[in-house]
Amino acid sequence: MSFSPATFIDIHTHVLPGMDDGPKNLEESAALIRCYTDMGIRQVIASPHYIQGTAWAPSSLSVLDQVAVLQSFLQSQNIAMTIFPGMEIACHKKMGEHLLLNKFLPLGTSSWYLLEPSFTDGADAFFSCLEPLLEQGYSIILAHPERIPALWLAGDALKSLVGQKLRIQLNIGSLLGKFGKESRKAGMELMAANCVYYLASDSHGALNRRPPVQEEWETLEKELGADLLEKLCCLHPAQLLAE
Ligand SMILES: [Fe+2]
Repeated sequence: MSFSPATFIDIHTHVLPGMDDGPKNLEESAALIRCYTDMGIRQVIASPHYIQGTAWAPSSLSVLDQVAVLQSFLQSQNIAMTIFPGMEIACHKKMGEHLLLNKFLPLGTSSWYLLEPSFTDGADAFFSCLEPLLEQGYSIILAHPERIPALWLAGDALKSLVGQKLRIQLNIGSLLGKFGKESRKAGMELMAANCVYYLASDSHGALNRRPPVQEEWETLEKELGADLLEKLCCLHPAQLLAE
């Protein structure tokens, strides 16, 4: 195996304690982080859910606070991991308005926002959320479109928007078939069309929806090749953190 998982930088994770459907407390967060450090991985972006009108709509300050709390807990446990702040922002009608009010955190120090399409809305609602943001000049990373049924049928419209201001992040689990055949097929189609910029785990815990294990990395390397895996999992995320 020539790909080294140790250089993976996970840009989409739910590692912060008590913020969403990720870890419930610091111990569970540390157990999840150990899944990374056991493989030599040293950097992740925490991207807790932000879903407007629900209990999962944290302020930027509370995310930054939790990053600091987890970071110092990990240090106390001698776990070497750097956690960068972020959010996974669910598409909603007032998103443009809220972006103007600085309600959201981009990923790391970049100006890129991680946008989650609705699992239940139709494609029209999605594009009417996304397109104004792109027109206003925001930089958007779209989280796991391959998991969204409405976007399976609107793949061409989505592909036509990918470019300087829109990048696509696929879930590694989708390519491994963990979210069903349709998600894997949609993900592979986006890969074949050269529309994917990042692969991320979207990890939620050490036991459930954990980061990839060694055998899974080997499967991915066989399927995609080491160079492409390196680009989507390591090089592009490193560039994002340097932006
Ligand atoms: Fe997520």
